[in-house]
Amino acid sequence: MSKQQTFQWTEMTMGTCYYPEQWDESLWERDLDRMLEAGISVIRIGEFAWSKFEPTEGTFTFAFFDRFLDLAQQKGMKVIFGTPTATPPAWLTERYPEVLNARKDGVLYRHGGRRHYNYNSPKYRELCSRIVEQIAAHIGAHPAIVGWQIDNELNCEVNEFYSAADDEAFRAFVREKYRTLETLNDSWGTAFWNQTYTSWEEVHLPRTLPGEQENPHQMLDYYRFISDSVTGFCQMQATILRKYIPEGVFITTNGRFGHMDNHKMQRDSLDVYTYDSYPSFAFGLDRDPLHAQDLNDRRWSSHLNEVRSICPHFGVMEQQSGANGWTTRMEGPAPRPGQLTLWAMQSVAHGADYISFFRWRTATRGTEIYWHGILDYDNRDNRKLEEVKRFHRQLQALQPLCGSRYAAQFAVLKDYDNEWDAEVDSWHRRLTWQSEPEIFAASELYHTPYDVVYLQETTTEEELSAYPVLIYPHPVIMDEGRAALLEAYVKQGGTLILGCRAGYKNPQGHCVMLPQPGLLQPLTGTDIHDFTFTSPAEEPTWAEWNGNRLDTPLFNDILTPLEGTNVLARYQNSYYQGEAALTERPVGNGRVLHFGAAFCRESVRQLLDYVGVLEPYRQIVDAPKELELVVRETKEKRYLFLLNYQPGPVSFTLKQEAVSLFTGEKLSAGTHTLPAYGVTVCEI
Ligand code: GAL
Repeated sequence: MSKQQTFQWTEMTMGTCYYPEQWDESLWERDLDRMLEAGISVIRIGEFAWSKFEPTEGTFTFAFFDRFLDLAQQKGMKVIFGTPTATPPAWLTERYPEVLNARKDGVLYRHGGRRHYNYNSPKYRELCSRIVEQIAAHIGAHPAIVGWQIDNELNCEVNEFYSAADDEAFRAFVREKYRTLETLNDSWGTAFWNQTYTSWEEVHLPRTLPGEQENPHQMLDYYRFISDSVTGFCQMQATILRKYIPEGVFITTNGRFGHMDNHKMQRDSLDVYTYDSYPSFAFGLDRDPLHAQDLNDRRWSSHLNEVRSICPHFGVMEQQSGANGWTTRMEGPAPRPGQLTLWAMQSVAHGADYISFFRWRTATRGTEIYWHGILDYDNRDNRKLEEVKRFHRQLQALQPLCGSRYAAQFAVLKDYDNEWDAEVDSWHRRLTWQSEPEIFAASELYHTPYDVVYLQETTTEEELSAYPVLIYPHPVIMDEGRAALLEAYVKQGGTLILGCRAGYKNPQGHCVMLPQPGLLQPLTGTDIHDFTFTSPAEEPTWAEWNGNRLDTPLFNDILTPLEGTNVLARYQNSYYQGEAALTERPVGNGRVLHFGAAFCRESVRQLLDYVGVLEPYRQIVDAPKELELVVRETKEKRYLFLLNYQPGPVSFTLKQEAVSLFTGEKLSAGTHTLPAYGVTVCEI
């Protein structure tokens, strides 16, 4: 098992999300029977039901969930139980308003929704510890329970915190980090605009300022603080649960949300990570072409790539089964016949061994009456239930894939310093928002699967050297540890591709007074004397690479090669025409390519081709761009997924025989057609 996870499913498993407290008890038994008939063997329950356990302060009642769990056990249904801390009871927030989160202007979020609490109030931590302890002590050993979900979607809905408790905790966080005000003043660059702090009482969370004037160094620490708060809150619950749960019962939570180090949370607190996948977020009814997003629902695969970096064999706790919508926002089409399966298979292709559909039946009350589940309000069998049953049969046919790994040809490097800096710094953000989706698009359209790797304190050279090629698109922030790791990777034979704006900041977000790319200069063998956003008043810049056009969008570092560095491509226009746009430097057994611009799908295709990893399966299958191609593999076997996101049939050509896992039939070499939203999986 990988070191990131301590639990792995041993069978491909199908589940659903169920809310016993939202339905008349007379429905429970029939619901469970119908789920089991459909192939659902696990349900997640409990995550919003605090009041069922503690209806008034300090009074604990267990009869309700005891009845339900005993029934589940009797039926043979397994349960993932959610700790209910995402929705504190009304009595709690009324009596202890200090547990509430606040807007930046100080107005408190009130009871009536969810996730309106803060992680730092000592009172909330005390009451959460108590309810988790009470629940775990009472049902922790229940034989129906196979896993626990901590809270629900930590940092969803809101991922900024401005309560008095957070203010105090932030002060303590930076005090612990910097020890002296002198160091804090230096780190936050407070000599700028007379921000110098003279006592700790003057230090606060970011507060309301005229215009958008936030101190970027303080903001970086603020996001680190939020991450620390949420991961600590999760760990507090995990520690309690571990006292009561038997061996083999796992702890998870469902992500993935902003301003938190998901990798640290996984390492510190979880056995396995789960994700909530709603691909139709990509195409609501917003027909404004300016907002129409490229690749639509297929883009969800980029999220799954990220999830896999946290936990290679993850589960999907909530997999879309109907149209998405709330009464207050979001309208979306119902999944077309086949599309529910397509989206679930998208998750499986990317590494999920557990698929749990959200939700068994659509709520008939509350904000989410349009967030449709498998069954509709009328509770009759319908086409979605039929499709879930069919999906289950297909999932059964994929049992040999359980535990197999996603086969990546290269990795995209990321890290939380740069992720958060890109939120704080709009120049950095422009680059990230351009390059990351374009690398994903190139990988999808040119059938070259990749992994995401987050550089963390624990990352080793060995993890990196699993990939022949790494793209670190814009490592604006660089430190010595990461630079040394990259150097070790390259020296052992790896190919590192860097984009523009590398290495000009330190971890505090200060610009370093070094020739760019700063600490990376020994690797790139380039110097940058001049750099600029491309001008909207000029034609788009481009470079010539072996007689071909290489687009150099958005930002251009004008590269000067140092000795031993080769120029591959030169800019063809603007005032730096003739200067280097792309260089290559041999380092040890490997090489570093330095590209002076942001990435677009075509330049990524050219780069992947040049470094020899483009379209690794072209000898086996000729698939058009419309299809997503994914391979999962074990030591002995390779399984090819082709997924059709189009509303009509799409053909592909097999260049060799393959065996379909769904039908067991041999697929001959030659042309085959996938129907609208169709998926095929075959052994190759
Ligand atoms: C998820 C959440 C569920 C449900 C669903 C629909 O984000 O975990 O509880 O709210 O979205 O909104």
